[in-house]
Amino acid sequence: MITVRAPATSANLGSGFDVFGVALDRPADVIRVERAERTTIEITGAGSQYIPTDPDDNTVGAVVDALDAPAHIEIDKGVRPSSGLGSSAASAAGAAVALNELYDRGLTPKELVPIAAEGEAVVSGTAHADNVAPSILGGFTIATADGVEAAQTDIPLVACLPEIAVSTRDARRVVPERASMEELVETVGNAATLSVGMCQSDPVLVGRGMDDPLVTPARAELITGYAAVREAAFDAGATGVTVSGAGPSVLAACRAGDRRAVASAMLDAFDAADVEARAYQTRVSEGATIL
Ligand code: HSE
Repeated sequence: MITVRAPATSANLGSGFDVFGVALDRPADVIRVERAERTTIEITGAGSQYIPTDPDDNTVGAVVDALDAPAHIEIDKGVRPSSGLGSSAASAAGAAVALNELYDRGLTPKELVPIAAEGEAVVSGTAHADNVAPSILGGFTIATADGVEAAQTDIPLVACLPEIAVSTRDARRVVPERASMEELVETVGNAATLSVGMCQSDPVLVGRGMDDPLVTPARAELITGYAAVREAAFDAGATGVTVSGAGPSVLAACRAGDRRAVASAMLDAFDAADVEARAYQTRVSEGATIL
């Protein structure tokens, strides 16, 4: 039996829609795999009642097929589904790492990324790798059609998860289909700034680079209280705020000493908007680990 801890992730980071992602040090899924004649899936933990256990409908089924690795798979969900924190990606990433080890397939972590992304496609409709890449590789990742790059970094973050349901499919429908040249220039500048900030572990540059004139404003409409939460986070010392992945979680970058105040301000702002929420005081972390 192999057990893997696969971390939650935050994709997009504002300016890097469908490209950027970071691994978070918590929450995380724990995936246990054991060789079997046919694949069976058992799920416990956060939101497990909403996740199908039929391998044809579950994110890990496609991973099993790609690795030709039938198994009994137990998933203990720490990452709630539809949270914007890469819930299905954590399970797919954990399963890919665990099954690769269980069947001694010998694939490198980078080679496992497209395999786990196929699992993502089962639930979200598209095989984007911006959540599975950081969940496998850790750190800050850049996932493009040509492959994936990863950089280790140390950025304190707060991920605030409200009790609002936003599905990735719905959040993708509101993304604008066209961008003006001004919006494109602003986005490229911010994405470049964020990348430099990640490489220098500089929360100020990272925060500045999280601004995005295109996708985030459209998706913010789906999150009750977003504008007030954003403002409260900045007032408490956040260096940047954006929608985490497809939402509804809101992600703030900050200096380590401001993390507690930022988390508390975001929770208060959601509360004032009559939205229950929980905040994870976290940081960019390592990827999936075999326990
Ligand atoms: N990049 C994806 C999106 C992440 O924002 O739709 C969610 O799976």
